[in-house]
Amino acid sequence: MLRSPCISLAVILLLLCAYPQANRPASKIRLSTFGKTKEGQEIRRYVLTNNRGMETSVINYGAALASLRVPDRDGKMADVVLGYDTLEGYEQDKSYFGATIGRYGNRIARAQFMLDGSLFHLPTNDGPNCLHGGTRGFNKRVWTAADRSRSDALVLELSYTSQDGEEGFPGRLQVKVTYTLPLESDELQVEYWAATDKDTVVNLTNHSYFNLSGVMSREILDHRLLLHASKFTPVDGHLIPTGELLSVQGSPFDFRSPTAIGARIDQENEQLKFGRGYDHNWVLEGFAGSGLQPAAEVFEPDSGRVLEVLTTEPGIQFYSGNFLDGTARGKGGTAYAHRTGFCLETQHFPDSPNHPNFPSTVLKAGQSYRSSTVFRFSTRR
Ligand code: GLA
Repeated sequence: MLRSPCISLAVILLLLCAYPQANRPASKIRLSTFGKTKEGQEIRRYVLTNNRGMETSVINYGAALASLRVPDRDGKMADVVLGYDTLEGYEQDKSYFGATIGRYGNRIARAQFMLDGSLFHLPTNDGPNCLHGGTRGFNKRVWTAADRSRSDALVLELSYTSQDGEEGFPGRLQVKVTYTLPLESDELQVEYWAATDKDTVVNLTNHSYFNLSGVMSREILDHRLLLHASKFTPVDGHLIPTGELLSVQGSPFDFRSPTAIGARIDQENEQLKFGRGYDHNWVLEGFAGSGLQPAAEVFEPDSGRVLEVLTTEPGIQFYSGNFLDGTARGKGGTAYAHRTGFCLETQHFPDSPNHPNFPSTVLKAGQSYRSSTVFRFSTRR
């Protein structure tokens, strides 16, 4: 029983104040203007911060992951991905920093493929080949963003419709990329969905460059890498797979136990010469057609940061930032020098449309494409 009107009023006020608190999401997506494209379209930056302080930002230009702040072993936060401070940086970018790659991630040989008895021609933008979706891939498109946050996670969905014939690909393709940051765990989940009105090929991925030290002027050669793969797809001089699945046993491509990226990168090896370092697709052991499987784990000894990558995809392109040469001026004016970032691009194998023995990248009209990748962060002593 309440003893006085004064106390009952106080109790009611307290309940009124507490109620919205309990129902309000603890964190939410913050939004700001990032800039205007050359064509005058407004681009926004979406910042997702969870209850643990992990923070990531995404822009709707290229559906790109623009920053990812995670703690080191002492709890000190740092941004661990390369990128730009301005939209102009992303518009001029040639390195695909953080971007969503499509319609076909990685290379298609001689920029052509056969599908349902027809030959399709794509733009060449990598010698004679088509790389990362052509001259204007999904990384150079404006996406539509929607906040789909739930009580347990911040969720940003980005959509784009690629017209029939865009960059030479058949079929009008609707695409969705969803970035999910759980409120209580340090991981970023990336989910892809697509559907087409004509048979086509699809291979979507994210092209983030990581440097877990958080110091982007430092090379990534000390990072210890583990890949859950006992085979990789060797390439020719144009980085096109020969079609073979080659054992990594006894070669610089064996990352079945954690090994410094730089330990063997300069060894005399034809494959390393072709890639100017690592720029190859590994065949993931756990691939089962569906379900997330561990693909990679990276540990940076100074900061103690650990990145685990899980995916539903059959392959992963490990690229050691060999083409970075200091010309790209990134966040805070940092010149991104040779091998100051690495990529782990979960994907179907490069040039699959021309290799019937590789898992198929064909998406049939009326069917839907789904793919998921998780970037999970922790620390270690
Ligand atoms: C991918 C390719 C590399 C290079 C980078 C971007 O990782 O495999 O060869 O094109 O993208 O520079």
